[in-house]
Amino acid sequence: MLRRLHPEQPESFAFTPANLEWAKLQIGKYPEGRQASAVIPLLWRAQEQEGWLTRPAIEYVADMLGMDYIRVLEVATFYFMFQLQPVGSVAHVQVCGTTSCMICGAEDLIAVCREKIAPEPHQLSPDGRFSWEEVECLGACANAPMVQIGKDFYEDLTAARLAGILDELAAGRVPVPGPQNGRYAAEPLAGLTSLTECESGRTRYNASVQLAVDLGDTVKRIDGTEVPLEAPWLRRGAGTGGTSRAKGAAAAGGPAPGKKPGQKAAAVERQAGAEPAAAVRPSRPRRLKAPRKSGADDLKLIRGVGPKLERLLNGLGFYHFDQIAKWSDAEIAWVDENLKGFRGRIRRDEWVAQAKILAAGGETEFSGRAKSRVKSGR
Ligand code: FES
Repeated sequence: MLRRLHPEQPESFAFTPANLEWAKLQIGKYPEGRQASAVIPLLWRAQEQEGWLTRPAIEYVADMLGMDYIRVLEVATFYFMFQLQPVGSVAHVQVCGTTSCMICGAEDLIAVCREKIAPEPHQLSPDGRFSWEEVECLGACANAPMVQIGKDFYEDLTAARLAGILDELAAGRVPVPGPQNGRYAAEPLAGLTSLTECESGRTRYNASVQLAVDLGDTVKRIDGTEVPLEAPWLRRGAGTGGTSRAKGAAAAGGPAPGKKPGQKAAAVERQAGAEPAAAVRPSRPRRLKAPRKSGADDLKLIRGVGPKLERLLNGLGFYHFDQIAKWSDAEIAWVDENLKGFRGRIRRDEWVAQAKILAAGGETEFSGRAKSRVKSGR
């Protein structure tokens, strides 16, 4: 399926203050240079805030993480959980169309969606309040057929029951999720045949449904206020001095759209918990205009450096292992800034440590394997 950005896009996107703070705490989970690891949680939060993932939201997240727009777009277009077009303002219904559900009546559920919402998936209903799509197995096969609405599953459905659920949602009510045929969970229709003692003392609904009912957020969009902002990895929690520090940092240079990604990433890293004093001021290493007479080293013998990175490094004036082996923290920061799209690789793959071994005439496990591959022609 071709997944493209919707032709009509809003002008801008910004996290709500609470979601922005949540996002910074997520980024703070990862070590310096690995902020891109937070891309999926941030995109998901943006979708939960808006209902779908807009181009400005994708760019906003890219800016926060210091990533190229294309890298974040790749993530957004790869995962089907990201909605790239507007969805119903009340509910987006995801009908499982995989084997168990198909055998048990998914086509009837889809017919209900076509009739009550819109003829085609991803189309908005005439009032803009509902949309639907067919999805792959959602992992509730024992309760087929089923749909996901918002955060919750409606299981053991019939066409009539799904129509009733849509009517209730349209009337502003949220039907209780879970099995719709009287089953507690996924036990046999005629009741438990084993572990019958478990029936006493159980909650009114099964654990998932009970939580859904308790939280009451099936079709609610996230505005950031409902999740306790716990940040144990930063040794602080919501309402502590740490949180106000994050707020202070945001005030000092929050990720407003429009700045260069590199600048913003550095700002966000600081906001996310790294002490500003620990930030390294980038310093340009000594570079060469051309390789020495002996010829350039094969930088691809450094694990993590492929042909593209080797070309980039050569373009920056680095041809030899001993050049890389001498990089200080400040120099690593400078090179990192100039390796657009590859930020964080130097530390992640420990280039300097590898280069020291190679510059001294030694072999790393990777360089040994790479050379034997070349020898054997593989
Ligand atoms: S086949 Fe529908 S949930 Fe698995």
